[in-house]
Amino acid sequence: MANELFISPSLLSADFTRLAEAVETIEEAGADFIHLDVMDGHFVPNLTIGPPVVKAVKRVATRPLDCHLMVSDPDRTAAWYVEAGADIVTIHIEASVHVHRTVQAIRDGGASPGITLNPGTPASAIAEILPYVDLVLVMSVNPGFGGQSFIESSVGKIAEIRAMCDRAGVCPRIEVDGGIDATTAPRVVAAGADTLVAGSAIFCTPDPAEALREIRRSATARMV
Ligand code: DX5
Ligand code: ZN
Repeated sequence: MANELFISPSLLSADFTRLAEAVETIEEAGADFIHLDVMDGHFVPNLTIGPPVVKAVKRVATRPLDCHLMVSDPDRTAAWYVEAGADIVTIHIEASVHVHRTVQAIRDGGASPGITLNPGTPASAIAEILPYVDLVLVMSVNPGFGGQSFIESSVGKIAEIRAMCDRAGVCPRIEVDGGIDATTAPRVVAAGADTLVAGSAIFCTPDPAEALREIRRSATARMV
């Protein structure tokens, strides 16, 4: 049993000089979350935003901030993003040494904890933490950049994680990030995803609002 379909546009592909306008556009088009990609130039080969920008987006957003931390030391820095106003703080299983402690600290701080895994990490890596998180983010590209091609093996991994959740009797959101557009969206939703991140397929188009609505239309009929 999946949750209602949510779309979480990634601001990574928006115009960074006009973030407030981008937020307004996608909220008016029905965005459910606002996806913020934090990269530290160490865990991934790119450097993006930190707490001050999350704080600034929080001032203009009315939808929950879905903060994806691609950082080497989330055990130390996840709290910064909770304090900056993130509603969901998602950390990488590959980067966290004390994952239960950090997940608990995110929750104690008043945010929803999420766990994410790279394309090369097996679903089994998150089995122990699954009952403690509100969201599982399946990376369908290697994190670091927008506009990459969807990795096909992600579809099977989503189905595997959905089955793990059913067996464990838990229902976190299953979110997919990387290469999501109106072609891949229905496929990942049919496999059990209920939350779609899309960056370039929304912002690198002439009409981001219509692109968002098109992704939702493409996926709605395939919800499991
Ligand atoms: C990639 C980021 C994504 C990125 C997705 O590391 O985590 O959120 O914005 O971009 P697209 O949708 O263009 O693949
Ligand atoms: Zn992301």
